[in-house]
Amino acid sequence: MRTQVAIIGAGPAGLLLSQLLHRQGIDSVVLESRDRAYVERRQRAGMLEQNTTDVLRDTGVGGRLDREGLVHHGLELRFGGAGHRVPITDLTGRTVTIYAQTEIVKDLVERRLADGGDVRFEAEVLAVDPAAPSVTFRQDGTEHVLECDYIAGCDGFHGVSRPAVPDVRTFSREYPFAWLGILADVPPSTDELIYAHHERGFALHSLRSPKVSRLYLQVAPDEDLGAWSDARIWDELAARFATGDGWELREGPITDRAITPMRSFVAEPMRHDRLFLAGDAAHIVPPTGAKGLNLAVADVTVLAEALTERYASGSETLLDGYSERCLRRVWRAEHFSYWMTTLLHTDPGATPFEHRLQRSHLDYVVSSQAAMTSLAENYAGLPLK
Ligand code: FAD
Ligand code: DHB
Repeated sequence: MRTQVAIIGAGPAGLLLSQLLHRQGIDSVVLESRDRAYVERRQRAGMLEQNTTDVLRDTGVGGRLDREGLVHHGLELRFGGAGHRVPITDLTGRTVTIYAQTEIVKDLVERRLADGGDVRFEAEVLAVDPAAPSVTFRQDGTEHVLECDYIAGCDGFHGVSRPAVPDVRTFSREYPFAWLGILADVPPSTDELIYAHHERGFALHSLRSPKVSRLYLQVAPDEDLGAWSDARIWDELAARFATGDGWELREGPITDRAITPMRSFVAEPMRHDRLFLAGDAAHIVPPTGAKGLNLAVADVTVLAEALTERYASGSETLLDGYSERCLRRVWRAEHFSYWMTTLLHTDPGATPFEHRLQRSHLDYVVSSQAAMTSLAENYAGLPLK
């Protein structure tokens, strides 16, 4: 079995790469260990930078995004019982869009299959050979070898690609908290996202549609999900979002809940021989800055451009620059995500001095046009080129 580009993982990175390559006449096979329903239902990201929506549209999967995506022009920082709006579009000229990762994955799978693309579910990659490029995978109980020109490791943080990069250098940071995320059948209590800092911990009010809310609570890293009844979740959210002006959090049936650990992680370089890492396989950010999916899209956009040049002209110049070009953007997002996380979460180990510094920092961000613009331009996403 042979293809031009073997893609490991049918998350947003792998699926979008396959679609970008298809548009340039380059063949690929996508191998995904889970089944289709699982990858289409896994609740994760929701906030898309304008770069990301532009790429999805240009790639022919913007139809439902344009109909159902919710375009936002600002966000709210809430602390000390009061809200402060960050007018993203006024400050940057850019918008952000709420459209769930589950929907992007569904749109991409549908498009690839409609175009005759080879996307294989329940096909687990067992081994990667970056030198004589090939991947070994198991499907229906049988092992197969897929030979190729290049391998794209889009298999997330726990995948098999990164360990195939020898001498990889890793950088990481753990945080003393995690997020408990819920999806609830209740109209959002806000039009724009609310990032709340409270002494009991951070909370985020996001949304999925005019009828579905997505909310997150800072919890301990070893938190037991079983200890959180629906009533406890709503009470805790209400306490952290409380304002002095009568604002109320609407409650409804919780349809999904999970705890996500928080970490920062970067692997360098993002390439070895014919193997290229993209998305969470190469880097993780804490979700506060909403950068993970957007970075994955940026990586595969750069990779698709480099592979296109290679097949069109034989030149490997862009492939050779892939890791460095991606890492510049990755480190900016790493810093922003770390910054947003430490700005907004309550560190259980912080001293009273550090709490005062944090409050001063928050006051500064919402009172200085320069500081707010810096937040807005990083949040909305720096241009791809
Ligand atoms: P993944 O989505 O992890 O896909 C990797 C795929 O590879 C998986 O389907 C996996 O099953 C498959 N795989 C693994 N190993 C193998 C193997 N051996 N063989 C075959 N297949 C394999 N990002 C944002 O930009 N905005 C947000 O608002 C945001 N919010 C988030 C909220 C939460 C609660 C979480 C958890 C994340 C959030 N993120 C956000 C991050 C975002 O979800 C990830 O960065 C994104 O999923 C990365 O995509 P990916 O394709 O690189 O990896
Ligand atoms: C969502 C998640 C985030 O991490 C974020 O910063 C904003 C929105 C979401 O799931 O909607």
